[in-house]
Amino acid sequence: MYSDPSGRDLLGNRTLFFIFICSFAIVTLLQQILYGKNYIKSGLHYKRENAEELDNMTGTYNFTDDGGQKTDSGLNSRYFELREASFEYNSSTCWKLRNEIMEVKILSMVKQSELFDRWKTLQLCKWELNETAANIFKSHLTRCCNAPVYLFTTQKNTPKGIKLKYEVDSSGFIFIDAEVFQLFPKEMPYSRSQFKKCAVIGNGGILKNSRCGNEIDSADFVFRCNLPPISEKYTTDVGAKTDIVTINPSIVTERFQKLEKWRRPFYEVLQAYENASVVMPAFYNTRNTDVSFRVKYVLDDFESQQSMFYFHPRYIENVSRFWMRQGLRAKRLSSGLMLVTAAMELCEEVHLYGFWSFSMDPSGFYITHHYYDNVKPRPGFHKMTTEIFNFLHMHSKGILQVHTGTCS
Ligand SMILES: *[C@@H]1O[C@H](CO)[C@@H](O)[C@H](O)[C@H]1NC(C)=O
Ligand SMILES: *[C@@H]1O[C@H](CO)[C@@H](O)[C@H](O)[C@H]1NC(C)=O
Ligand SMILES: *[C@@H]1O[C@H](CO)[C@@H](O)[C@H](O)[C@H]1NC(C)=O
Ligand SMILES: *[C@@H]1O[C@H](CO)[C@@H](O)[C@H](O)[C@H]1NC(C)=O
Ligand SMILES: *[C@@H]1O[C@H](CO)[C@@H](O)[C@H](O)[C@H]1NC(C)=O
Ligand SMILES: *[C@@H]1O[C@H](CO)[C@@H](O)[C@H](O)[C@H]1NC(C)=O
Repeated sequence: MYSDPSGRDLLGNRTLFFIFICSFAIVTLLQQILYGKNYIKSGLHYKRENAEELDNMTGTYNFTDDGGQKTDSGLNSRYFELREASFEYNSSTCWKLRNEIMEVKILSMVKQSELFDRWKTLQLCKWELNETAANIFKSHLTRCCNAPVYLFTTQKNTPKGIKLKYEVDSSGFIFIDAEVFQLFPKEMPYSRSQFKKCAVIGNGGILKNSRCGNEIDSADFVFRCNLPPISEKYTTDVGAKTDIVTINPSIVTERFQKLEKWRRPFYEVLQAYENASVVMPAFYNTRNTDVSFRVKYVLDDFESQQSMFYFHPRYIENVSRFWMRQGLRAKRLSSGLMLVTAAMELCEEVHLYGFWSFSMDPSGFYITHHYYDNVKPRPGFHKMTTEIFNFLHMHSKGILQVHTGTCS
């Protein structure tokens, strides 16, 4: 005998099955929208693998093994947990975790989410300066670039009467007459390894809600780029101490009418940085020169204590060449990278904050481009992501420390 397959029953089963598939699909879709699909896909596999091993070694640390999407606050709290447990820098686990960053030779080798996961897991390890590795790196910089002698144009390295070649070839030369010469300091103001601990602030949106202000302010020397706001609203996250601040000439041109009109508003903005030295790329091209000189006139006219320095175009060129040999190609390196490179020679230990140019933080949350706004940079000019990737490698080698989490 065979049972008579009733059409209705069959249809009923199909409908149920169909509903089941649909709801599964909707739930998955929602998850992907909420948490970013790549994150789920590669996050899970990688996390689980490491969780077992790490769990056994601390006994204090609890991985959520669902890739972090358990609850609304799941990602955040897991990130906190990740920061808390700390393995010794030289432990075998940390050797392994550091290698997992270093074996990513180029960015396109892994998915971004995979890189983020490796980076996040590495946060379990205490960071330590590897003096051997840092000194090797510093000696390369001494040979190519020599910041303690050439970082800025000085009366010593740029004598009166010479023709100084601009950085951009087509701009030609500037004749160093007496008037230009007297804008330069007699000598370079900083010496090799003068400062113990330096912080370089990259202005990335990752700094928002980081509460790293106190930690940044406790550094011996603080570099900031592009005249970033450090008003009360931001100090909890970014601090206020500033020893060097760079200014992009386009800011002076756009926000302060090239200083051809009222100059006090500009002076008042500068006063927020107290005695920080102001640094500009006056000799990048001819367009930059006049506005850069005018900033110096403003400081002098208002009898400011702040010093004014100009990047030496040969220093910038040599630094660019140095990084190009390391595989970093861009139309122009960012001023952040310039400062980090200079800091490597002027400081014993270099710490980076706000250097994270991805659209998401390491936990997969979208962040703004800067901590103070969401204005995107000119496309194709800088290669920020490659620069950051490079810093992650340096962090893994113990040459400098990249901070991307919250501070306690
Ligand atoms: C995990 O730890 C327990 C005791 O702490 C130990 O007996 C066990 O062998 C460890 N497992 C691994 C895989 O290391
Ligand atoms: C880990 O989980 C256990 C039990 O689930 C709990 O007792 C312990 O406090 C947790 N540890 C941490 C560091 O959260
Ligand atoms: C790191 O650990 C290894 C052995 O595990 C040891 O030989 C070496 O001296 C340690 N290095 C440092 C810098 O502590
Ligand atoms: C420190 O760096 C040197 C040179 O790169 C390397 O040989 C050494 O293993 C590193 N030490 C640690 C503890 O990572
Ligand atoms: C830049 O590098 C060139 C070639 O290595 C060297 O001759 C020159 O002195 C360097 N200039 C500066 C300013 O460091
Ligand atoms: C400004 O510089 C002077 C002298 O270099 C120093 O004594 C003073 O503490 C500095 N002020 C601030 C706020 O850093």
